[in-house]
Amino acid sequence: MGTDDRDGGADAVQESRVRTLVVGPVLPNDAAGRTPEARPPEARLEEAVGLAKAIQLEVPHAEVVRVNRPDPATLFGRGTVERLGGIVEAFDIDLVVVDHALTPIQQRNLERALIAKVIDRTALILEIFGARAHTREGQLQVELAALTYQRSRLVRSWTHLERQRGGFGFLGGPGETQLEIDRRLISERITRLKRELEEVRRTRALHRAARQRRDTPQVALVGYTNAGKSTLFNRLSGADVPAADRLFATLDPTVRRVELPSGKRMVLSDTVGFVSELPHQLVAAFRATLEEVQAADLILHVRDASHPDSEAQAADVAAVLAELGIDAERDERVVEVLNKVDRLDATRRAALMMRAALADGRAVAVSARTGLGMEELLALLDQRLDGGRRVVELDVDLADGRTLAWLYEHGQVLHRDDEDGVAHVRVALDPADATRLTAAAMR
Ligand code: GTP
Repeated sequence: MGTDDRDGGADAVQESRVRTLVVGPVLPNDAAGRTPEARPPEARLEEAVGLAKAIQLEVPHAEVVRVNRPDPATLFGRGTVERLGGIVEAFDIDLVVVDHALTPIQQRNLERALIAKVIDRTALILEIFGARAHTREGQLQVELAALTYQRSRLVRSWTHLERQRGGFGFLGGPGETQLEIDRRLISERITRLKRELEEVRRTRALHRAARQRRDTPQVALVGYTNAGKSTLFNRLSGADVPAADRLFATLDPTVRRVELPSGKRMVLSDTVGFVSELPHQLVAAFRATLEEVQAADLILHVRDASHPDSEAQAADVAAVLAELGIDAERDERVVEVLNKVDRLDATRRAALMMRAALADGRAVAVSARTGLGMEELLALLDQRLDGGRRVVELDVDLADGRTLAWLYEHGQVLHRDDEDGVAHVRVALDPADATRLTAAAMR
């Protein structure tokens, strides 16, 4: 039975979850150019299954498939396609998730051969983001990412899956008519969305600037999805942000004011969970969210220290940070929060705490769930924010060479963008210099 025939009502969704086959292809060049910390295919498959389950897909079968010679028409060789077809039939599969990029042609040919809907990794992540977007901004971002992806393909998309699941239906309408939306309409919509997002971004920047003027340090949480950011955010802020054992519970940034033991205040923001191979267009779409990270005085990189792939996850997060121009190794603003230590045995926990203690304020071991290590984390925040450099954003007239020279001399210029005779600068400064500068700017 095709999924298209199904009723999209809430009850139907409860009873008939989409039966999904998850396939993790391993291509020859995947094996070659990989770094040592890259995770094994089985772990990647397990993660893809976790992603699928996060949007209530039922996964009766999943497997790693080695592809010796990728076929431009179907990715997999003929024998494999036939075998997968057998699995689709045997397990009554509606949807096949290929945890890899597929060309539109490969997708279409596979759909025909397998007689099931086929989506690739990007579409799966878009699905998840779509289901998790709660604020207007989050929805705009996902829609933009989805349309950009779709424009590059112009094939039938995943809309009827969305409809059936009763998701928020950002593409609206019945799946098949999606084919009829032409490139021009999509482009127009993309332009409009970009304008709206630009507006959101400006408002956000204004708010940030206002917070900076009040000299409240900004702290941003980043981390691999499911690392425990929301749990830590709640513990630190006492806020009631739902933390579910779901991937991507957090899509929209949440900002809270937190008071530290010294009485000092900080502004804490939670961000979207990262995931390996986060498609490039998604990073672009989530730029507004991630700008909170770029402009933060401290960046808490929350890690699930109990996860077998902890190192690979950290490398993935570092890669996303690098796209934002942040060097996770060298940028002193980055602090590692080694979370979930309650799940480690006593020996490993002790080793980790030792490692953190020796990291000179660059790491701390905690359990966001039990509260273990929270005092150390708060003390670290107090210490690092006191006397630590503040990140300030400002516009300087390009003709004002003296101010620019002063900034380079006294601070670390993190980012600079020259436009219409004005330099937009993001710079880390000692608190006294930052105060002097903002006072001068307000005069
Ligand atoms: P995304 O929104 O997907 O990015 O996830 P997140 O990083 O915000 O993770 P979240 O806080 O939602 O936590 C994910 C799961 O890990 C939840 O089931 C939490 O209860 C659990 N968790 C978080 N911190 C700890 C911890 O210190 N110990 C243990 N055992 N579990 C934790």
